[in-house]
Amino acid sequence: MNEIAFLILAAGKGKRMKSSLPKVLHKICGKTMLSYVLDAVKPFGCDIGIVIGFNGDLVRKEIGEGPFYITQPKQAGTGDAVRVAKDFWQRYNNVVVLAGDVPFLSSDTLKRLIESHLQEDNVITLITAFLDTPTGYGRIVRDEKGNIVKIVEEKDASYKEKEIREVNAGVYCFDTGFLKENIDRLVSDNAQGEYYLTDLVKIAVLNSLKIGSISVEDNFEIMGINDRKALAEAEREYRRRINERLMLEKGVTIIDPQMTYISPDAEIGKDTVIYPMVFIEGRSVIGEGCIIGPNVRIVNSFIGNNVVIRENVVIEGSRIGDGCEVGPFAYLRPETILDESAYVGKFVEVKKSFIGKGSKVPHLSYIGDATIGERVNVGAGTITCNYDGVKKNPTFIEDDVFIGSDTMLVAPVRIGRGAFTGAGSVITKDVPPESLAIARAKQVNIEGWAKKRRGGEEKKNG
Ligand code: UD1
Ligand code: CA
Repeated sequence: MNEIAFLILAAGKGKRMKSSLPKVLHKICGKTMLSYVLDAVKPFGCDIGIVIGFNGDLVRKEIGEGPFYITQPKQAGTGDAVRVAKDFWQRYNNVVVLAGDVPFLSSDTLKRLIESHLQEDNVITLITAFLDTPTGYGRIVRDEKGNIVKIVEEKDASYKEKEIREVNAGVYCFDTGFLKENIDRLVSDNAQGEYYLTDLVKIAVLNSLKIGSISVEDNFEIMGINDRKALAEAEREYRRRINERLMLEKGVTIIDPQMTYISPDAEIGKDTVIYPMVFIEGRSVIGEGCIIGPNVRIVNSFIGNNVVIRENVVIEGSRIGDGCEVGPFAYLRPETILDESAYVGKFVEVKKSFIGKGSKVPHLSYIGDATIGERVNVGAGTITCNYDGVKKNPTFIEDDVFIGSDTMLVAPVRIGRGAFTGAGSVITKDVPPESLAIARAKQVNIEGWAKKRRGGEEKKNG
């Protein structure tokens, strides 16, 4: 389908957002509005142009290489945005123009739009919907035969026109020959002093050219996000849909869907139970039969099957194997890997470390840049002293090691297979396998010391 290209309008400041961020970079369920639009467009495999303007560098940085970027120097309206992108779209026979602030439009609807456009050989095909509250949208004005005659913006609409419930979604397929001939004919004599793309409808009608439309049933699909109130509404509705799909299609138990925040890109397996105030962000994958929460945040992480993540745990960029247990109150930082049935418990921080099969770090520890073997027990309060002020150093703990409580492992250091460290030791040298390392001051007992001290006090007071 390379006679078609997509053009996304994303140059607007979004005045109504009252933000210093371009409108299309505001997020819904953790993803920018613009990335939803791109997700809908990408499956077609066509060239994509994005018109940027207000803080355009931020948009370019966020989306990265791939699309063609066209800069609109002054945000003079949607018509002007399409005009400045002429060099891009004139290379194709047809161009689909989408607003970057209509995030939930589906690929299926776009496909329907394109098919209808090509079949009917229209110069413009647009998407409409019937809304109970059409406020804010351009209204579709039709003649008595039902043909579209114009689109009138809310701000320019007469009292009568405001009653029209059929609205313009802001998504169109254009014949580029028609666009080329007429885009410079747009004028800005309207309430907003802007060049309206929608005025091309009037021009087509004047020239007796064919305009078509398709309509969508699901009003959410065409929702345009213009302010923070709409942003919050979109967030709530989209979250509801994500959770509903997980419950009905994937067999996930969500105790309170209104208090559960799951990314649209996350996957969760069946019979996993999610307690309230759980945030699952980014491209996280969670297996089957897990118990998560309450009050847990999981970001871009992979969690296996039958894992228990107890309350107040944060997991970022980590991999958790089958049958592991984490928390309560644990923090797993990026590049942490827990192998099968490992346990990271209460008030433990782990960073960039591997914890082997069946190993346990149950209480109050910091484990950083460490590689821990299988069946290791790390006593309460153990710390890997991984940072010497200049660089991060590694700690190796081999299989079947027992680390006594409150051991300081001053890295780089290696504890050999099956070795023990005495509680309270400061381990600065490698420990050979099967040995005991004790590195602490010897205990001295001074007999009768306490009694003598008390005796002294009594004398003074008496
Ligand atoms: C637009 C339509 C309206 C439709 C609604 C659907 C026009 C004149 N009106 O109104 O009929 O019902 O969308 O949501 O087109 N943009 C630019 N450059 C500009 C101005 C806007 O790139 O100079 C971009 C914006 O970033 C945005 C999109 O175009 O992504 C739409 O602009 P916006 O100002 O939100 O248009 P609406 O008033 O919502
Ligand atoms: Ca809009």
